Amino acid sequence: SPPPTPALSPGLEGVVLSATRLSRVDGERGELTLAGFAVEEIAPRATFEEAAWLLRHNRRPTEGELHDLRSALTDRRALPSTTLDVLRAAAADDLPPMKALTLAAATFALGGGPPAPEALGFDDVELTLLARLPRAVGTYARLRDGHPPVTTASDGGVAEDLLLTLTGAAPAAGAVRALDTYLVTVADHGVNASTFAARVIISTGAGTLESVLGALGALAGPLHGGAPGPALDLVREIGAPDRAESVLRKKLDAGERLMGFGHRVYKVRDPRAEVLSRAARLLYEDPSSGADAGLYALTRHVESEAVRLLDEYKPGRRLRANVELYTALLLDGLGLGGDLFTAVFAVGRTAGWLAHGHEQRRDGKLIRPRLHYVGAEGRTWGRY
Ligand code: CMC
Repeated sequence: SPPPTPALSPGLEGVVLSATRLSRVDGERGELTLAGFAVEEIAPRATFEEAAWLLRHNRRPTEGELHDLRSALTDRRALPSTTLDVLRAAAADDLPPMKALTLAAATFALGGGPPAPEALGFDDVELTLLARLPRAVGTYARLRDGHPPVTTASDGGVAEDLLLTLTGAAPAAGAVRALDTYLVTVADHGVNASTFAARVIISTGAGTLESVLGALGALAGPLHGGAPGPALDLVREIGAPDRAESVLRKKLDAGERLMGFGHRVYKVRDPRAEVLSRAARLLYEDPSSGADAGLYALTRHVESEAVRLLDEYKPGRRLRANVELYTALLLDGLGLGGDLFTAVFAVGRTAGWLAHGHEQRRDGKLIRPRLHYVGAEGRTWGRY
C-alpha cells in the first residue's frame, strides 16, 4: 500500500522545524527567553551589540570583546557612495522605508570594510549588516525629509548611531537606553516568518546577505512587523480616553481587526509588550525626552479597553496586546515615527537572523516541505 500522506498543516502551524538554543517562546505562559535570559531581565540592561554577541556565542562578551566588536562596527559604518545613491533614488521615488532598506542592503554585496577580526566570530558581511542597516534607516529618514545625510562617525553602539544619523545630534543617554531595550527585545523570536525565510535561504547553501535580503522581504508584509504604524494610528484616532470604547466598538462591529492585538503563539499578554511598555513609561515621563506623557497614558487605557472588548466580541480567543502596540509608542517617542517602525524592527531582528543562519548551516538540511496536490489529473493536450 502507498505510504500514508503526511498531515496537512496550513501556515505550518504547530510544525517543529529544528532544535535551537537561541530563543524559547512559551505562548501559554507568556514567556520569552534569549539564550536563557528572560526578556524582562536582559532587555532593559544589555546593549544591542551585547545581545547580538550573546546570540552568536551563547555567552556574554567580555569587556575586551565588546570593545573589539564596537570598533569593528565603527570601522564599517560609513555608507559607501553606491548605497547613498540608491537611498537618494529611493527617497526621490518616496519608496516605503522597507523597500529602501532592502535596496540599500543589496548594495552591501559591493564590498564591506576592512577584513573582520577572526576572534569576533562575525564575518565581514555580518559586521557590515549590523553596522550599516541602522545607518541606512536613519539616513533614509533624513533624505526623505530633504535633509543631507549625517556623515559624523559615531564610535558609540548601534542604538546611538541610529539616533545620531536620524537627527544629526548626539542623542541623550535615556533615548539610547530606550532604543537598546527595544532592539534587544525584538532580537529573536523563534521561527517567525522572516527568520523562517532566512533559514530557508541559508539551507540552500546561499550566503548571509541573500538570507537577510529574503528576511527583509518577509518582514515587509502587514501581518509580520507591519502593525505598529496602524496600532499607533488607532490610539491617535481614539484621541481621548472617553472615546476609546465607542471607537473600538465601531471597529469591532464592522469586523475590523484591532492592530497591536492578538498573536499566533501568545495566548496571554506578549511579554515584550510589558518590557516595552515599561521602557516607554521611563521615556515618556522624562520631561527632557520631549515625548507627550499623555500619549503613554492613553495607550495604556486603550489597551485595557481593547482587551475587555475583544473578550466580549471574540470570547475564548484570548486576544491580548502584542509587541507592536508598545513598539509604536516607544519608537514614536524616540522620533522614529511614521512608517519607520518596521525598518527599525529589522535592525534588531538582524541579530537573530544572523544567529539562525549559523544554526541552520550547522544543521545542514535543505528545507523542503511538501504540498498536497488538489489540481486536475490525466488531462491530454491533444491537437488544435
Ligand atoms: N482584532 C480583532 N479580532 C482578531 C484580532 C484582532 N487583532 N486578531 C485575531 N482576531 C480574531 C479573528 O478575526 C478570528 O476571529 P473569528 O474566529 O471570529 O474569525 C480569530 O481572532 C482568530 O484569528 P486568526 O487570524 O485565525 O489568528 P492568527 O493566529 O492567524 O492571527 C494575527 C494572528 C497576529 C495575524 C492576528 O491576531 C492579527 O491580525 N492581529 C492584528 C495585526 C497585528 O497586531 N499583527 C502583529 C502581530 S505580532 C508581531 C509579528 O509577528 O510580527
